[in-house]
Amino acid sequence: MTARNGVLITIEGCDGCGKSTQAALLCERLAACGLPVGPSAAPGAVVREPGGTAVGEAVRELLLHAPVAPSPWTEALLYAAARAELVDKVLLPELSAGRVLVLDRFLDSSLAYQGFARGLGVDEVLAVNAPGLRGLLPDLTVVLDVDPAVGLARAGGRPDRIEAEGVGLQQKVVAGFAALSRRFPERVRLVDGFRAVELVAADVEAAALEAVASAGLRLGG
Ligand code: TYD
Repeated sequence: MTARNGVLITIEGCDGCGKSTQAALLCERLAACGLPVGPSAAPGAVVREPGGTAVGEAVRELLLHAPVAPSPWTEALLYAAARAELVDKVLLPELSAGRVLVLDRFLDSSLAYQGFARGLGVDEVLAVNAPGLRGLLPDLTVVLDVDPAVGLARAGGRPDRIEAEGVGLQQKVVAGFAALSRRFPERVRLVDGFRAVELVAADVEAAALEAVASAGLRLGG
């Protein structure tokens, strides 16, 4: 594991599971506890994947709005490339400065979408991500568990390329995240996302505060 003093919390789930809302609420709540949340250049902000860097945003555009769908391995490698850039330019420096980072998606999205749902294999997708991760894994991964049909309906707006593939893919994604929570129980926590926003937020906050406490960070700082 890479040397660091901060805490890395990732929020995951299928499309429309409510993770962007929950990630933003979590940042607010952790900041209210006096913790140094978000990158130092944007205190209190959620970091999103793919994206979070100039290269990452360009890759995001390519992945989600390209006129022709990439092949499954091209897709997996592009997500891994955007992630390597984020790890190097943002996550490692900010974590070694002791920041608490909340990420809207990270590695487990690739394991669930590309590894499980696309059938590339979790171990295979993990293996192509490993060099770019440089030993970094989240301290806590919260998966918001919702019915994928409800999620897709909730996602609203103009669907991106992956949402446009429909509920069949999202069902596999949800099953993939559940399998990840069984495989990595020390870090991946399923939270029932099909409840009032406040109730979900309370569970997410409790799990995050536990992770912060076990990383040895002092509250009220
Ligand atoms: P998302 O954060 O859901 O975008 P938005 O909230 O703006 O719609 O992510 C975009 C899509 O990318 C989503 O369908 C999941 C997919 N994705 C992968 O397939 N693999 C990955 O590794 C990541 C990070 C995202």
